[in-house]
Amino acid sequence: MLAGLLVTEDRPVEAVAEYVALSEAQMLDETEANYAASLALSLDLAESARRILSTATGGTAAEAVREGPAEVRGTDFIDDSTDTIGFADVGGLKKVKKVIKRLIIDPLARPELFAKYGKSAGGGVLLYGPPGCGKTLIARATAGEVGLPFYNLRIEDIVDPYYGVSEQRLARAFEAARELRPCILFIDELDALGYARSNQNSERARSLVEVLLQQLDSVDSDNEGMLVLAASNEPWDIDGALMRPGRFDRTIFVPPPDDDARAAILNAGLAKTPTQGVNIKNLVGRSAMLSGADLRELIDRALDEVLDEALSSGLEPPLTQKHFDLAFEDMRATSLPWLQRARNHAEFGNVGGRWDDLEAYLKTRAVAKELNRGGR
Ligand SMILES: Nc1ncnc2c1ncn2[C@@H]1O[C@H](COP(=O)(O)OP(=O)(O)OP(=O)(O)O)[C@@H](O)[C@H]1O
Ligand SMILES: [Mg+2]
Repeated sequence: MLAGLLVTEDRPVEAVAEYVALSEAQMLDETEANYAASLALSLDLAESARRILSTATGGTAAEAVREGPAEVRGTDFIDDSTDTIGFADVGGLKKVKKVIKRLIIDPLARPELFAKYGKSAGGGVLLYGPPGCGKTLIARATAGEVGLPFYNLRIEDIVDPYYGVSEQRLARAFEAARELRPCILFIDELDALGYARSNQNSERARSLVEVLLQQLDSVDSDNEGMLVLAASNEPWDIDGALMRPGRFDRTIFVPPPDDDARAAILNAGLAKTPTQGVNIKNLVGRSAMLSGADLRELIDRALDEVLDEALSSGLEPPLTQKHFDLAFEDMRATSLPWLQRARNHAEFGNVGGRWDDLEAYLKTRAVAKELNRGGR
């Protein structure tokens, strides 16, 4: 009971000590022992985990001892992407590519030139925009363009309810990535890690931001050759300290796919489907503001229609424009509500021009029209 209490009191290290004592007195059942051992491992207390498992009763626990507890390694929290993609794999988005070239690719290719003009190639870059519009895709393509390996920080595996565990894992992951330099470290959904400290009442989440700050600052100093890229759908929720110079001080807006991007997404999505007379140009014209993910959904719906037809007719008809006409019925652009919200932030929270490119996008005629229509 004491051990359990220590856990809920955020004193896991003391809890582990208590569990060790309990296991040595043969007072832990198998489930408890496994739980205690994994708690110990998450705190990097491998020896305690071994002691708990070796004295606890039960078959699985004993087997685990024979194999030995797994080490917690920083590389467990970063993913190595296997297939390399480049800008050619990202349809349209000319402006985004141009900005990335200026902010990331050129400085990495010619650091000496940039240094001469007093501009540094370091610091982080934050990609932001509505969901499903290609942030993750373009981040990976950026790595491909500069010829650097791309490591993805696995936030879902880092965040842990026990005090101190997430912090330690995050630091480990950064250290591991640093070992792998030169590389790009990608933090997807930065808002999940760097949620504004002022919005939080818990000491705990605050310390995660502290670790992130520390790591970013050391990336800047002892970390030549590691570019930290991040993405977020809710950039205004990110702690202001993370957006200061040397951290994620440069932001790039990734808008919903433009005409070329939508054509590319539709063509790729239909590459393996037998079609007849599908007019991509027409579909592009009707799908303004649909995200990449929405376009997938559109294709899915069209496929459902043709499958229905195949099942009821016993034939195998190709996918046609008619199926898309049906698919378009009550298709909603998921980016619109996001853009509505973003408009408020761009209007009232554009500190230091941080959301300038978003603001410019929202002011374009076509977008303003869509938004006013959607805002009925
Ligand atoms: N310009 C594009 N060219 C080709 N495919 C695209 C493009 N934009 C988006 N896609 C496709 O749309 C889907 C969603 O893209 P992605 O996952 O990169 O979006 P995201 O902005 O990271 O979304 P989230 O905010 O939900 O993480 C992916 O399957 C991606 O391949
Ligand atoms: Mg993404």
